Amino acid sequence: MSIKNICCIGAGYVGGPTMAVIAKNNPHINITIVDINADRIAAWNDSDLSKLPIFEPGLSEIVKATRNKNLFFSTDINTAIDKSEMIFISVNTPTKTYGKGKGMAADLKYIELCARNIAEIAKTDKIVVEKSTLPVRTAEAIKSILDNSGSDVKFDILSNPEFLAEGTAIEDLLNPDRVLIGGESDYAIESLASIYASWVPEDKILRTNVWSSELSKLTANAFLAQRISSINSISEICEHTEANVNEVAKAIGMDSRIGSKFLKASVGFGGSCFQKDILNLVYIAKSYNLNEVADYWEQVIIMNDHQKRRFSDRLIKTLYNTVSGKKISMLGWSFKKDTNDTRESAAIYVADHLLSEQAKISVYDPKVSSRKIQTDLNYLGTRTEEENKEGVECVDSPYDALVDAHAIAIMTEWDEFKTYDWETIYTKMKKPAFIFDGRNLLDKSEMIKIGFEYYSIGQ
Ligand code: NAD
Ligand code: UGA
Repeated sequence: MSIKNICCIGAGYVGGPTMAVIAKNNPHINITIVDINADRIAAWNDSDLSKLPIFEPGLSEIVKATRNKNLFFSTDINTAIDKSEMIFISVNTPTKTYGKGKGMAADLKYIELCARNIAEIAKTDKIVVEKSTLPVRTAEAIKSILDNSGSDVKFDILSNPEFLAEGTAIEDLLNPDRVLIGGESDYAIESLASIYASWVPEDKILRTNVWSSELSKLTANAFLAQRISSINSISEICEHTEANVNEVAKAIGMDSRIGSKFLKASVGFGGSCFQKDILNLVYIAKSYNLNEVADYWEQVIIMNDHQKRRFSDRLIKTLYNTVSGKKISMLGWSFKKDTNDTRESAAIYVADHLLSEQAKISVYDPKVSSRKIQTDLNYLGTRTEEENKEGVECVDSPYDALVDAHAIAIMTEWDEFKTYDWETIYTKMKKPAFIFDGRNLLDKSEMIKIGFEYYSIGQ
């Protein structure tokens, strides 16, 4: 069967860009992205493309070319399910914050709601595609819900995890290293493969069983995060030995067996997925009593928490053991450059620690709103909303953030930070003027020449 109508449940960082790219490359397929969040859908439909809910380089151009032609955004979930032959589930799967598995397991309540919604509405056969990242064997639960709908509708379940990274989502979708499709039914697998084949070379479309596909996604994220924690652990040794972590990363990365990517030491990885997916993997291992496996992967998270904490500890220690009443300027709040996403950003945890030490924080981020910054801090529940408001000011110009600052903390590797007039910034700061470069973004010798006390990671 050739697919003519697709529904994607979840208009988020994955659903939006992924469907936009599928729509662009398959003009003969109508795609409706649906969401329970009416504000989000309204933003996707905004005629002002700068108001799209997600910032990703290249996204607005593709939305402009496809929206209301073969790409639609709607809150009418039932109609979209009803008329589609293929339904992607691309809703969030956060770490559970309650009950069994709290703080570890993935919360699958949104996935289950989608499955129940599909079971209730579907009158014709459907291919249901897991796009969300899910624990291995989730397809079993989805199938059980769908097969007990009381109707004789036939459901095929596919696992098709997404590997895009934020900030490069469109590039990653247009030129993926691979597309992974796990399933049982050849017909369902080939229906989905043919959609990707309109722009992805055939040898990059992998077919596996459902469980390998589900587990490969968690494994890929665990391996990527593990590389960062590994190099970050070495960065701490570097700081005690005068070795330079950039030099070490280059030296080991030139070994083709190791490879050069994902070896950038930093203040710690953030983002909505690495931590959540590793915790999920740890939980799965524990649920099979594989305690050594669980401990092995948990260490990646322990190391990452340590890296964030030691960044703020070092800042406080260097500022003569107190930041009370001192202005600390944070450059960057998003978890990486070229995204407005702040989920699990290291900046949140560093700011929270500094606020507990009574610092006054000024934040500038080119894409993150002050409301989002306050929401992120309030979510931690460390202090009242009023106290967070008092402790943190968010400014629209980086130079405002830096006036009279005792120290600058670079939290995100936004390119524009490199282009600032650092000599002028130096004159505006309290002396000694400290920079704590959590991304090794600036040129150390240049900063020292200007007069800064410059601290970076692993150098
Ligand atoms: P997101 O929070 O940005 O978007 C999820 C959307 O689903 C939200 O808008 C929410 O309102 C909607 N939703 C939740 N329940 C719903 C329901 N029952 N009906 C309709 N809409 C519903 O999440 P995301 O970042 O797009 O991630 C989605 C999934 O993709 C997660 O499993 C994540 O692990 C995975 N993933 C994310 C990325 C990434 O870079 N963000 C990359 C690869 C995989
Ligand atoms: C990551 C994976 O790279 C994607 O393949 C995956 O699809 C996605 O998670 C997901 O499942 O959500 P993402 O979190 O968007 O993508 O961004 P990354 O580029 O992986 O960066 C994650 C964090 O690690 C960022 O905070 C980044 O600054 C940090 N990082 C990355 C480092 O500190 N050092 C590095 O060398 C690379």
